[in-house]
Amino acid sequence: MGMTQDIAKAKNILDEGGVIGLPTETVYGLAARIDIPSAIEKIFKTKERPFFDPLIVHVSSMAQAQKVAAYWGPVTEILAQAFWPGPLTLVLPKGSSVNPMITSGLESVGIRMPAHPVALEILNKVGTPLAAPSANKFGKTSPTSAAHVRTEFGKEDVFVVNGGDCNIGIESTVLSVKENGREAVLSILRKGHILRSDLEKVLNTKNISYQFVETTDKKESPGHMKHHYMPPVPFIVCKDSKRPLASILQEVNQQLAKLPDEIESIKIVKPKEGLKTITALKLDNDPVLASREFYAKLREAAAAGSDGILFYQESFHDGERWEPLFDRLNKAASLILN
Ligand code: TXA
Ligand code: MG
Repeated sequence: MGMTQDIAKAKNILDEGGVIGLPTETVYGLAARIDIPSAIEKIFKTKERPFFDPLIVHVSSMAQAQKVAAYWGPVTEILAQAFWPGPLTLVLPKGSSVNPMITSGLESVGIRMPAHPVALEILNKVGTPLAAPSANKFGKTSPTSAAHVRTEFGKEDVFVVNGGDCNIGIESTVLSVKENGREAVLSILRKGHILRSDLEKVLNTKNISYQFVETTDKKESPGHMKHHYMPPVPFIVCKDSKRPLASILQEVNQQLAKLPDEIESIKIVKPKEGLKTITALKLDNDPVLASREFYAKLREAAAAGSDGILFYQESFHDGERWEPLFDRLNKAASLILN
């Protein structure tokens, strides 16, 4: 089938209340129409995702976004104009038409206009916003290719539109925007390709008053479990790039026995007799390229057949550009060693 037929088929499935694998520039999403409650339910069921973790609403126009949000202020307008389509999710007051299942009962809704041409075309054809979390089982490694999604949901037989490998490779920046027309309070709920400095650069050219705050309220930022993005075998991050493998294996095997239940609950496989073999994960020295390839390399390393995966953190892995990737790396890790 060609792309035109694939897009037509995707639209039919969505219109009939089904879910599809949707390519975006960040990661693949598992998409459904926001106006069909049974379809939204299907997302949670297919992903095995708990209902307390809200979904992002994807739109293809500013008008659609403004209908989903209850308030559209000047700072929201500036950020949407500057960064959409692109990897920025704006968390705004929720419009009354948005099903509370999508927002996990929160009064806010996450909205994003993806930059992938296939995603935009599907959104345009369907004519309704699509809710889409990353297309992986809950807690597992995010998908950056159509093949990843097909492997993840082989049993569920999800139709995936192949839009190629994701260019950004990690999930969007999630930014909460609270404004009243005069001033805005911003907080980054999830780091992503668009950095705080990128946001400031744009905001500083405008005559507006804003401040960034850290969120401490867990309710405002659900879905931030300690363990996330995890491969099926133990993944070890070692902060000492000079530490010999034998010493790492020794400590890993000591600690493995003490791994908390949380990890068991997302079904990580602990080798019975401890780790004997380990596959090294190597990433590009450029943070943008390293982020692009991270999830695919993590999956490859897990498929290599070793008992575990090891990543050495180097001194150059430092600075704002590396932060979004290390957020994922640290959450994907079963153990972080010094
Ligand atoms: O790049 C992305 O954002 C990808 C692609 C498919 O667009 N989607 C994605 O969705 O990463 P997901 O469900 O894996 O992560 C969405 C996260 C939630 O876990 C939650 O932390 C946050 O976005 N979120 C969504 N709505 C929110 C809300 N109303 N308030 C606070 N956080 C919200
Ligand atoms: Mg996800």
